[in-house]
Amino acid sequence: MKILVIGAGNMGLTYAQAMSKSRILKKRNIMILDSAEEKVEQLNKMAHFDAFDKLEDCVPQADMIFVAVKPHHSKGLFEDMAGLTKKGQIIISIMAGVSIDFIRKATGLTKIVRAMPNLPAQVGKGLTSYIASEEVSRIEGLTIEELLNTTGKSILVSKEKYIDASTGISGSGPAYVFYFMQSMMEAALQMGFSANDSKVLVSQTFEGAIELFNQSDLSPDGWMKKVASKGGTTQAALDSMEDNKVNELIKEAAFSAFNRAVELGEAHV
Ligand SMILES: NC(=O)c1ccc[n+]([C@@H]2O[C@H](COP(=O)([O-])OP(=O)(O)OC[C@H]3O[C@@H](n4cnc5c(N)ncnc54)[C@H](OP(=O)(O)O)[C@@H]3O)[C@@H](O)[C@H]2O)c1
Repeated sequence: MKILVIGAGNMGLTYAQAMSKSRILKKRNIMILDSAEEKVEQLNKMAHFDAFDKLEDCVPQADMIFVAVKPHHSKGLFEDMAGLTKKGQIIISIMAGVSIDFIRKATGLTKIVRAMPNLPAQVGKGLTSYIASEEVSRIEGLTIEELLNTTGKSILVSKEKYIDASTGISGSGPAYVFYFMQSMMEAALQMGFSANDSKVLVSQTFEGAIELFNQSDLSPDGWMKKVASKGGTTQAALDSMEDNKVNELIKEAAFSAFNRAVELGEAHV
């Protein structure tokens, strides 16, 4: 099986590198294509892929085409691919807001997977939500899941709207966590800690809380009750957050990202 990754940017390169380590692929079965000549030269020096700058040199040989260019480049790319694709090829798109229907019409291919990854894919801790068109077989689906899982975990969603919804949770979500971390680091600095100590205090607190959560069946709410005692320090902080409706504001923010993903999709088509 040969996989072509189009777009050697943050995400394309992350997936190409992760997939090249997959046990289901033989050596040098990842091809990568980018429009920047310099990047292609650099990539060709890496041992594990073959890099290209011309679609005609790699599209016809691919069994799966993993599209990782920016959404606004998709139309031009699909036009350039016309006449090079062949029936049965599978397109896996990670482009935000680009629908399966659009890809089907633009490429004439029917086996299409739309996926939404997130940035922690770069450290093997990503979450990719995905959906496949009905033409993708069960066996192909399993292979795709295994490939996506090389960057972390994946969930198969039942409707395309959940791809936009997951943009609001996992896609944009790392930034919400960084927002919370930034606020806590600023508080630590204001309390008089050094920049380095503030960083350690916050990052280790996040890491520890996530580890506790992952190693138990307790909900976040359950853990809050465990940490907070009546009249104590944690309760004072949680009460302040409740009084300021932080919970509502976070949910509102996630819905803003979801709605924006839908809007971008509508604008794109
Ligand atoms: N980054 C994230 O956290 C994230 C999360 C979820 C989804 N995504 C999706 O992932 C996709 C890629 O994002 P990214 O952050 O990796 O973007 P990026 O770093 O800009 O990478 C895109 C790459 O594709 C190249 N390119 C553009 N048009 C091309 C063409 N026709 N043929 C070959 N290569 C082409 C670009 O070259 P130039 O720089 O020369 O244009 C660039 O190297 C986007 O559609 C985005 O919606 C990203």
